[in-house]
Amino acid sequence: MKKRLSTLERGYYWKYNLHKTKVLLFPNMGNFAIIMSMNKKRLVSGIKPSGRPHIGNYFGAMRQFVNLQEIHDSFIFIADYHALTTLQNRSEMSENIIEMAIDYLATGLDPEKVTLYQQSTISYHTELAWIFNCLTTMPYLMRAHAFKDSEAKNKEINVGVFDYPILMAADILLYDAVVVPVGQDQKQHIEIARDTAEKFNNTFGETFVLPEPLILENVKTVTGTDGQKMSKSYGNHIPLFATDDEIKKLVMSIVTDSGSSVPENVKALHLLFKNKKEVEKIYSDKEGKYKELKEALIEDMIAFIAPLRENRLKFEKDKGEVVNILKKGSEKANEIAQRKMKEVKEKIGVLLS
Ligand code: TYM
Repeated sequence: MKKRLSTLERGYYWKYNLHKTKVLLFPNMGNFAIIMSMNKKRLVSGIKPSGRPHIGNYFGAMRQFVNLQEIHDSFIFIADYHALTTLQNRSEMSENIIEMAIDYLATGLDPEKVTLYQQSTISYHTELAWIFNCLTTMPYLMRAHAFKDSEAKNKEINVGVFDYPILMAADILLYDAVVVPVGQDQKQHIEIARDTAEKFNNTFGETFVLPEPLILENVKTVTGTDGQKMSKSYGNHIPLFATDDEIKKLVMSIVTDSGSSVPENVKALHLLFKNKKEVEKIYSDKEGKYKELKEALIEDMIAFIAPLRENRLKFEKDKGEVVNILKKGSEKANEIAQRKMKEVKEKIGVLLS
C-alpha cells in the first residue's frame, strides 16, 4: 500500500489562497513560503492617464496590481482612450501616458511578470466595443452612475462618456479576465462588463468569461482633503508621488469636523500608512489635538511616499526603456486580443471561410 506522506516528509503542500488560486507552499524553506502558482488566473485592470495618480488610485487599485503580480497572469494598461473622454490636449496626453508608465514601474510592477501596455495601441479594444454597442440598449447605459452624475450636473456629455462602460467591458472581456482589481467606484462598470458578456454568450454562444471585481473593503473609497471620494477631477487629491511640501500643505488643508474629538477622515487616511494598533495609540495620546494628529499623519505619509519617489527617479532617467517596455507589452497583449477577436468575428458571422 502506498504510504501517505506528511507535509513534513513531502516538504510542501497545496493550498487555495484568497484569490482561489492553487499554490504550492514550502513551509520549511526559511521564513518565507515559496509560492508557485499553478494555472495563474488572468487579471486585467487599467488607470486613466488623466493626471497624476493619487493615493486613492494607489490603495484602491495600484497596490493590488503589485501584490498580485506573482500569482496572476496580469494585464495592466494605460487607459488613454478612456482619458480622451475628458483630456483633449495633445502634449498633456503624451506626457501623461509616459508618466503613468513610470508611475506603474515605480510602484513595483515588474514588466517581466506583468504585461504592461497602452490601450490605444490595440485597436481590438475599440473594435470589440463597437460590437458590444450593437448589443447594448440606450436605456441600459443611461442607468450608469457616471452618466447620471454628469447629467445631474448639467455637463455637456460626449458620446465617449456615455459609452465609457462598454469600452471598459471590451478592455476586460477581450483578455478573458477573471479578476479585475478596482476601487468601489468601478463596481458598476464591472457589472456592466458581466452583463455584456452574458448578453453576447446568450446571443452567439459561449465566448466570454464573466469577470469578478476585486474590491478591498478597507480601501474601497479613499477620501480626499474635503472628505469626499478622492478624485483627480474634484481637486481634493493627494498625489502618490507628492513632494514633502505638497504633503504638508495638503494634509494641513484636510477639512475636519470640529464637533468631534476624533477627526475620522484624518484617521482613515492614517490607517492606510500605519497599522491599526499604532494609529489607535496616536489617537488616544493626542485626542482632540487636530494639528498634532495631522502632523503625525504627515510624518508617516512622507516616510511611505519618499521611497516611491526615489524609485520613480530611476525610471525617469530612461524614458526610452520605458517606451520599450510598453511596446513589448503591446505586442504580447495584441497577440491575445487578436486570437479572441478572430473567435468573436467567427461567432457573429462576419468572418468568411
Ligand atoms: P481611474 O483612473 O479613474 O481610476 C483608477 C483606479 O483607481 C480607483 N480609484 C479609487 N480607489 C479608492 N478610492 C478612491 N478615491 C479612488 N479613486 C479611484 C478606481 O476605482 C480605479 O480602479 N475606468 C477605470 C479605468 C479603466 C479600467 C478598465 C479599470 C478603463 N478600463 C478596465 C479596470 C478594467 C478608472 O476608473 O480609472
